[in-house]
Amino acid sequence: MSVRRLAEDQVQPAIFAFNDENSVWAEATIRKYPAGRQQSAVIPLLMRAQEQDGWVTRAAIEFVANKLDMPYIRVLEVATFYTQFQLKPVGTRAHIQVCGTTPCMLRGAEDLMKVCQHKIHHDPFALNAEGTLSWEEVECQGACVNAPMVIIFKDAYEDLTPQRLEEIIDAFEAGKGHEIKPGPQIDRIFSAPEGGPQTLNDEIKPVRTNLDPHPSAEEAAAAASIPPADAGRPKDTAPETDPKLKTPATAPAAAAANAKAAEKQPSATAKSKPAPKTPGSAAEGAPPEPGAVSGDLKPKRTRRKTTTEGES
Ligand code: FES
Repeated sequence: MSVRRLAEDQVQPAIFAFNDENSVWAEATIRKYPAGRQQSAVIPLLMRAQEQDGWVTRAAIEFVANKLDMPYIRVLEVATFYTQFQLKPVGTRAHIQVCGTTPCMLRGAEDLMKVCQHKIHHDPFALNAEGTLSWEEVECQGACVNAPMVIIFKDAYEDLTPQRLEEIIDAFEAGKGHEIKPGPQIDRIFSAPEGGPQTLNDEIKPVRTNLDPHPSAEEAAAAASIPPADAGRPKDTAPETDPKLKTPATAPAAAAANAKAAEKQPSATAKSKPAPKTPGSAAEGAPPEPGAVSGDLKPKRTRRKTTTEGES
């Protein structure tokens, strides 16, 4: 990223003023903003000044500051912040701004800069021999998905290869830059995948519902042959009181099966009754068998009694 400073005094013009057409446009632009908010027109006015002179001069910054009743330093801050504003003379036919941020760098931005060095000048901001071309490295221009890319004036050229950038530079050099279509330079629509959409390609078929108000003759006949769900239920009987629903046909058979299973099972009371003591069982007071569970579950106190003063 280059340091953004105003051009040297030798190239700075003494004064700046909009031409007649741009003066009308500037007044109309300023009137778009609410009373007291005219300073919001600072970026459009600076951009118009750049389009008139080819770059933003110190005189233009002072002119815009006076026009919008702003401190000069505030306009200078805006002009030096955005790389869209050129602070020194650039190529009259193209100034190539190569994105050098990580995604573009990973996708070949260094090779694009080599093309610029080879075709324009070794150093950024230096004009070519004819004064028609210049280049610089800039930060991310927001088209990372189509990296690597360059900006030329207000247009972005994306998905570039060194060969394609050479062709673009040649076209601008020949004054035919307008013939190059901005955007992706490969088979890609905006930021869609290369070669076309990859997802949501299935053909969507309409889902048939029962709400068709105009069924075919076959559908109507088939619908007429299906008995209604409440066929056989006495009239004036609510579905929840229908005896067929309350006592399904399988209920008696299921009840008989449950009764048989209950006979085979020992009763719950027999299970819970304690077994009588036999002569061979453990005598009272005798040590329990290993693994036997004692009935005395009271926890024993393990904390030692602390000795108080005077006790031995
Ligand atoms: S990194 Fe190059 S456009 Fe974002």
